[in-house]
Amino acid sequence: MRRILMSMSETLHARTTAPAGAVRIDGVERTFPTKTGPRTVLRDVDVALAPGEIAAVVGPSGCGKSTLLRLIGGLDEPTRGSITLDGGIARAHDESTAIAFQEPRLLPWRTIAQNIALGLPRGTKPKRAKERVAELLDLVGLTHAAGQRPREVSGGMAQRASLARALARSPRVLLLDEPFGALDALTRLKMHDLLLDIHRAQPTTVLMVTHDVEEALYLADRVLLLRNLHATTAQPERPRAKVVALGSTSGIGALGASGSHGSAPQIADDAPARDGSVARVVTVPGTRPRDRGARTLTDLRASLLDGLGVTHHTTTPLTAKENS
Ligand SMILES: Nc1ncnc2c1ncn2[C@@H]1O[C@H](COP(=O)(O)OP(=O)(O)OP(=O)(O)O)[C@@H](O)[C@H]1O
Ligand SMILES: [Mg+2]
Repeated sequence: MRRILMSMSETLHARTTAPAGAVRIDGVERTFPTKTGPRTVLRDVDVALAPGEIAAVVGPSGCGKSTLLRLIGGLDEPTRGSITLDGGIARAHDESTAIAFQEPRLLPWRTIAQNIALGLPRGTKPKRAKERVAELLDLVGLTHAAGQRPREVSGGMAQRASLARALARSPRVLLLDEPFGALDALTRLKMHDLLLDIHRAQPTTVLMVTHDVEEALYLADRVLLLRNLHATTAQPERPRAKVVALGSTSGIGALGASGSHGSAPQIADDAPARDGSVARVVTVPGTRPRDRGARTLTDLRASLLDGLGVTHHTTTPLTAKENS
């Protein structure tokens, strides 16, 4: 009994002294059984997220982005390797992680405030629940819509409610699966700044899947580029420009702290190809909020699109000196 109490107090001590929200993904593989045999979707994923970091995951459709999020959220288990959150195992529906999706998934018969309240930890006292929901409504700018039903609000408002519901339990890690993918361009830009405001107010670790490279570069400290292990079409063979890349561009290494913001750009080749799912990890330069038109971001965008096999046109070609 004494030993159990001691280990509980050690865990509590570790929780209260270490900054919460450190994610370690070590050697993770996820293989699904299929009719035609086992299919490996993720392989050799090694990533460490620092507490409070915002990381974006980009990659071709089917490469395993949502699978990775589900693994971190404890909704699925790796076939190999381990995932820890602050040294412990994350379990589905506990208070350590929360997930939000492209579609808001609100209950249509409940009000916006009631939908947000669904995200509160079980057992929250009614008085505290009321206060917390009011705080969250204010945080996402929905106080005026508290009593409305989901069908009565816009897509952007519904998505803000979905974010608030995910934040309700103050998760150590917020997992976002293409959260702004269904929104129009203007609403999406507003949501980016809202997410940054929320992150300033509640600096939780964020892992966000997106198909939008610009969104990734605007919001994230680092961008993880995943490759499809089963790509049937070969990547286009074309000469690769030397690009501006900051920090580590390899799958492993320099993972963890995201402290190299603002360092001087270096010209670097694309990372060497590896066998695992993580093709590159790119540290995004500059502090947030970033200038969307910054030259370093334009070059990184081109480099990431290149990694995704997307043909792109750059309006600011590299000079001969930079290219040498
Ligand atoms: N439970 C499962 N059983 C079998 N195969 C699965 C399962 N879950 C996912 N997969 C397969 O794993 C692969 C990766 O799926 P995942 O949803 O993670 O891709 P994704 O990168 O999120 O794609 P998208 O960008 O289209 O959302 C797909 O081929 C999918 O069919
Ligand atoms: Mg997906």
